[in-house]
Amino acid sequence: MKKTQIILITAIACFATATLFLFQKSQNFYQIKNFAYNEKIAENLSGFSLASYCSSSKIKNWNCGAPCNKNPQGVKDVYYMLNTTMDSAGFMGYSPAHDAIIVAFRGTIPWSKKNWISDINTIKIKYPRCENCYVHQGFYKAFLGLQSQIITEFPKLKAKYPNSKVFVTGHSLGAAMSTHSMPIIYQLNGNKPIDAFYNFGSPRVGDQTFHDWFSTQSFSKEYGRINHRADPVPHLPPNGAPFQFVHIDHEIFYESFSTPYLLCAQSEDPDCADGVSYPIDIPDHFSYFGYDWVAEMFTCQ
Ligand SMILES: *[C@@H]1O[C@H](CO)[C@@H](O)[C@H](O)[C@H]1NC(C)=O
Ligand SMILES: *[C@@H]1O[C@H](CO)[C@@H](O)[C@H](O)[C@H]1NC(C)=O
Repeated sequence: MKKTQIILITAIACFATATLFLFQKSQNFYQIKNFAYNEKIAENLSGFSLASYCSSSKIKNWNCGAPCNKNPQGVKDVYYMLNTTMDSAGFMGYSPAHDAIIVAFRGTIPWSKKNWISDINTIKIKYPRCENCYVHQGFYKAFLGLQSQIITEFPKLKAKYPNSKVFVTGHSLGAAMSTHSMPIIYQLNGNKPIDAFYNFGSPRVGDQTFHDWFSTQSFSKEYGRINHRADPVPHLPPNGAPFQFVHIDHEIFYESFSTPYLLCAQSEDPDCADGVSYPIDIPDHFSYFGYDWVAEMFTCQ
């Protein structure tokens, strides 16, 4: 072999190795940073989450303002979930446009003292479904207030629409409750994964062990916590000591709803909400997907 050939072959080999290395790196990056995210479904679910703040009759008649107007086919066979002791609420029903059973949990209504008490009840209690798991007591109790209604009512919808998809959603405190609903709805769904589980501005629900357990379960096919810029709620209760709450996986982060989103597959990722320096913008908590949540929830009571 000529010297020039050897140099050429060596150069090609080096180039190939480097390319492979870079490609692998970008493959890794791709795997870490990417997952299935269906923005159209998420946007629809934001509307259902917002509708869950409305009065039972406005939901049943599907005249709840903007989120109802954007989903003109509405939701049929609505069951309004309500626990007056806990002031927990939400609705479930069937969306013909999506051929899906929708379960949506209501967040903190600003005028509910009981909701605020649930929110600030940051004591960790033992979570019965996994060993050594601890969860935020207030969110879990708020969810437990609705659990028996889910157990009696979801199977009725499932019986009527056996082959439809199942979508679960919620905003704020409702996002935390939607997380807690996953194991139960999964079971009621015949141990079949929920088709889509997207929530909005979710606080942290449990500890590291809860996160580890939750991420090994296949409760849903596609899922994610959608966060908006400087929304303070995803930063609560804190990740740092002494609180040490940890988010469940899959975050979708929006700087605004007119610019591209970021996908963060890890639970606590500085590239997404964790990287926001001053997450103290309450209006960001109430402006997901272009809806004015506060205005809508006041007019749809
Ligand atoms: C939601 O879904 C319906 C039906 O598929 C669609 O017409 C509507 O534009 C969607 N978007 C929003 C924001 O609800
Ligand atoms: C409301 O919540 C409490 C506390 O979890 C529970 O004991 C009660 O059975 C619930 N009521 C309804 C109607 O679900």
